[in-house]
Amino acid sequence: MKVTVVGAGNVGATCANVIAHKELANEVVLLDIKEGFAEGKALDIWETSPINLYDSRVVGCTNDYARTKDSEVVVITSGLPRKPGMSRDDLIATNAGIVRSVTEQAIKYSPNAKIIIVSNPLDVMTYASYLTAKVDSSRVFGMAGVLDTARYRSFLAMELNVSPKDIQAVLMGGHGDTMVPLPRYTTVAGIPVTEMIAEDKLNAIIERTKKGGGEIVNLLGTSAWYAPGAAAAQMVEAVVRDQKRIFPSCAWLQGEYGLKDIYLGVPTKLGKDGIEEIIELQLNEQEREMLYTSANAVKEVMDVLDGMDLKAV
Ligand code: NAI
Ligand code: 2OP
Repeated sequence: MKVTVVGAGNVGATCANVIAHKELANEVVLLDIKEGFAEGKALDIWETSPINLYDSRVVGCTNDYARTKDSEVVVITSGLPRKPGMSRDDLIATNAGIVRSVTEQAIKYSPNAKIIIVSNPLDVMTYASYLTAKVDSSRVFGMAGVLDTARYRSFLAMELNVSPKDIQAVLMGGHGDTMVPLPRYTTVAGIPVTEMIAEDKLNAIIERTKKGGGEIVNLLGTSAWYAPGAAAAQMVEAVVRDQKRIFPSCAWLQGEYGLKDIYLGVPTKLGKDGIEEIIELQLNEQEREMLYTSANAVKEVMDVLDGMDLKAV
């Protein structure tokens, strides 16, 4: 069984490394447009196999989609990352062209693949891939919520001085500053988080989570990769092992939460068929309002994409 990761940059290489390390596929193909780059990253990863004791074969190639043939999952990380001062939406024009051409090639060689988008602006790039792939929306979805929830959970673990393993949380909405962490669905070993932390501290953590991507960009001058790469690999694992895990995914909504024709982060069940279920929570009025604000922000950028000449890219 084969998994392809397109884009051998920071996120793509990290994701391929985690996939190989966890032996999620017999073969991990890393593909990049930059001559020799994916080959070099793949070789470096493969050379860790005797140390980390795995036998998933990692291979790299330069834009050779024939090597990706019959992949079970294709993760698309190709595109420009954010630089300081840039919003995720600034990346739309360049990355839409890249994501669309990559999707076209990938689906040609792996018509049954599940496609996981990582490139930013995430929700809109997932939409761009879906428009191009022309397959059921259950097979085209985006990674953001797993990362954003991980940031939220890791900040809570630090504040409460507990293991991050014990923190469960739900976060919805777009991958941007309008994302919606949900304290009502956040627990520490089953205990409602609101019983363990003061309201002002929790609110500060929610605000830090919303700006979690920017915090790393400001520190590093480019966007994060360890947590994003691991988050994408966790979604790959749920699919290839048919785990039926409940993760927030960027999914195509057709009436769920009263929203239609939009890609947005919602709780989903992930298994061998991709998104096997969209879970509808009973949101209260305030939560629903925040979700709609986030949906409007995503829709605005989707409209920008709709207004672009798709064929010209
Ligand atoms: P990077 O610059 O390190 O890697 C991107 C790679 O894509 C480069 O190696 C580049 O050569 C390659 N590439 C460009 N065009 C290509 C094409 N047509 N075909 C194949 N490969 C191509 O960037 P990084 O840090 O890995 O980020 C990748 C993307 O992921 C960015 O758009 C970034 O904003 C996004 N991102 C999304 C996150 C999320 O939560 N969804 C989190 C972190 C990053
Ligand atoms: C992140 O959240 C920038 O989307 C990227 O790290």
